[in-house]
Amino acid sequence: MIGALNYKTVAKTHDFRMPENVKIGRNSFFSIHEDIRNLNPTKIIFVSDKGLKNAGVVEEVINELSIHNIPIEEFTNIVGEPDFEIVQEAIDFIQKHHGDLVIGLGGGSALDVAKASAALVNKEPIIVEKILAGEAVPEAKGVTCILVPTTSGTGSEVTMNAIFGDHKNDVKRGIVSPYYLPDIAIIDPVLTVSCPPMVSAASGVDAFTHAIESYVSKKATPLTKMYAEAAMKRFSKNISKVVFNGSDLDAREEMSWVSFLAGVSLANAGVGAVHALAYPLGGKYNIAHGVANALLLPYVFNVTGKTCIDEMVQIADFLHLGDFRDEPHQAQNAVVDYLYGLLEALNLPKSLKELHVVEDDLRNLAIEASKVSRLLDNTPFKLNMESIHEIYQNAYDGTLN
Ligand SMILES: NC(=O)c1ccc[n+]([C@@H]2O[C@H](COP(=O)([O-])OP(=O)(O)OC[C@H]3O[C@@H](n4cnc5c(N)ncnc54)[C@H](O)[C@@H]3O)[C@@H](O)[C@H]2O)c1
Repeated sequence: MIGALNYKTVAKTHDFRMPENVKIGRNSFFSIHEDIRNLNPTKIIFVSDKGLKNAGVVEEVINELSIHNIPIEEFTNIVGEPDFEIVQEAIDFIQKHHGDLVIGLGGGSALDVAKASAALVNKEPIIVEKILAGEAVPEAKGVTCILVPTTSGTGSEVTMNAIFGDHKNDVKRGIVSPYYLPDIAIIDPVLTVSCPPMVSAASGVDAFTHAIESYVSKKATPLTKMYAEAAMKRFSKNISKVVFNGSDLDAREEMSWVSFLAGVSLANAGVGAVHALAYPLGGKYNIAHGVANALLLPYVFNVTGKTCIDEMVQIADFLHLGDFRDEPHQAQNAVVDYLYGLLEALNLPKSLKELHVVEDDLRNLAIEASKVSRLLDNTPFKLNMESIHEIYQNAYDGTLN
């Protein structure tokens, strides 16, 4: 025995994944024609949401795809952020129409439905039920899937996660598997130009939340940190531009990179307490995912930031807030003040009170959030039910104690 394999050391494997083919840049959408020719499907299922349908975007894109003379069926029933019921509806729709290529176009809501339904189609109903209940994971691929985001963004097109509302428990819940990665992601900033300011603000800060939370995550690696750093450096220079001048294509392109880079980091290092506290707000109050994350960011980092001072110094640098190497404990304040200021600057709500959350519900929200151990375990600060309740209370009052 040479001893090259040492079974006595603790196993520590970092598994890094993203879609096999990511295409990014202005007008990259048109490269889908080559993909369709290569894949040669018999039936395309086009998954998008009501908002994009009503805005005429769906029709324009389907017209563009019609040059292939391949039948296309539209699934655009998604209204607001999706629940587990709509995923089942999409699965049934793909099966009924014998689709063999799913193209998802939209923000995270449409993309999550597209990736989950493409992965879970043609499987035993009992298995699908268990997977959606979080009691099992897929063990085989579904049909081919191409995801095209129209927001910057959730990064859903490069993550292994899909997040849905669970009405039984009044929460949002993620399902995770490499099979939810699409075969191809096409990230074209031109498609984000029509994004209204509020969606640009909320989804843009959502991308930043992925970057900052994955950067400080206990599962972060030098590789994921590289992606998160690149995302954060681009974010602060471009977020206001896309919110207040949506047709600034240079800024839109930079935000596409932010969304992609942060998405890859999130997919491989995980996110943390901000997301864990946002899920019950989405589940009980239907608060948009990006809005909930943006609002919670300063209140959560005001508590958790003290256990990752080195990272706070680095993040202050990435955000161009100054050099805090000689006074590292000031870095957390600088980052938290920046995050709070962002809410004001982007016209996002600054307190849960403004969002009509009922103060008496805060304890129950804290009980639900404290169950999201998949994410809380990534956070470099052990939060318990009481500390989570305190964070919600500060977020409710709009005060950074
Ligand atoms: N899978 C993941 O890794 C992941 C990560 C983060 C968030 N999410 C999920 O993503 C969802 C939120 O996604 P989102 O923030 O992208 O918003 P969204 O998909 O809910 O879209 C918000 C609104 O903007 C409209 N819209 C989107 N793009 C547009 C465009 N270019 N022009 C005009 N209107 C446009 C939509 O029609 C919709 O009405 C949540 O359900 C969240 O849980 C998933």
